[in-house]
Amino acid sequence: MPQHRFIVCSYTKSLSLGTVSWQSPSNIALVKYWGKYGEQMPMNASVSFTLKNCNTKTSLSFEKKDTEGFDFEVYLDGKREVSFEPKIKKFFERVEVYLPFLNNFKFKIETTNSFPHSSGIASSASGMSALALCLMDMERQMQPEIPDDYFVEKASFLARLGSGSACRSIEGPLIVWGEHHEVDGSSNLFGTKYPFGVHQNFKNYQDTILLVDKGEKQVSSTLGHDLMLDHPFAEQRFRQAKENLSKLIPVFKKGDLSEFIKIVESEALSLHAMMMTSRPYFILMKPNTLQIINHIWKFREETGSNICFTLDAGANVHVLYPEIEKETVLHFIKKELSKFCKNEEFIEDEAGLGAEKILD
Ligand code: DP6
Repeated sequence: MPQHRFIVCSYTKSLSLGTVSWQSPSNIALVKYWGKYGEQMPMNASVSFTLKNCNTKTSLSFEKKDTEGFDFEVYLDGKREVSFEPKIKKFFERVEVYLPFLNNFKFKIETTNSFPHSSGIASSASGMSALALCLMDMERQMQPEIPDDYFVEKASFLARLGSGSACRSIEGPLIVWGEHHEVDGSSNLFGTKYPFGVHQNFKNYQDTILLVDKGEKQVSSTLGHDLMLDHPFAEQRFRQAKENLSKLIPVFKKGDLSEFIKIVESEALSLHAMMMTSRPYFILMKPNTLQIINHIWKFREETGSNICFTLDAGANVHVLYPEIEKETVLHFIKKELSKFCKNEEFIEDEAGLGAEKILD
């Protein structure tokens, strides 16, 4: 089994006390992951832009202990957050076989997000990837000879076991996750850097996130993924995603923005169409999500801009556009779109290079 290479039998150094800190970004999928099997394996390959500004900073303090079992506490913005602990416990249970030291330490996990709390932006991708990197950092201290590529791959592998999309947040700016016959090195187990040519048009691609609905998610991603298991259109959807990734390869190479827009917007709407046609069915878009989409289409038609949108599993709209259009599109967003956001709030972001270690 390929994942066996992530199992460590012994460490050469011992650790007793310390703190490691990592900062890891969120990411936005262009071809969406929706549907999984086994232990967090995707039903289709996805590709995403890693973001730059939306990130989680996590410090992991550890102290050797003699007692059995997991022992950890989670803090968000300096306050104990017990509601996060079941998810972390499940994560620890899943990764224990790959990180056999987890039982031997008492942990304090301190985390902060750069984006506003309950902004509706998924913090699981940035949060789980930051935690996975902290744990890998500990592993590297106990096994200093592990190569950099192994470190990155295993961090992505572990992050995936916390939250699927988190495996795409370790590196950037474009990451593929899931086996795809045209993408060498692609894997269901971890994200890999998009290996082909990318035109200048996509350099520092902009993503302005319009915060339409800041509430708690109505439907968890995990439940949504599960509904794909016996979804009547599942097979067709997985085939469509696979084809869309194939179609993106020449698009990235040539810098074909009009084709990019068609693929990306279709992916977003197909994702939401899956939600609307599952049993039980649900709608995550809000009236203002549709208002924004219609205004984007109108602006594109009137100005010839290459602005487009994508959506996550929620009502917020990610507005994507080339860096060269930054000034005009931001002006349009402020003037025409911000009124559809809660408290007129939006976040300016762009494609970034992935996670970084925080040195104190
Ligand atoms: C719609 O990664 O949040 O954002 O693996 O259950 O944690 P779990 O799901 P998650 O799903 C993300 C779904 C998506 C599309 C995407 O990011 O590809």
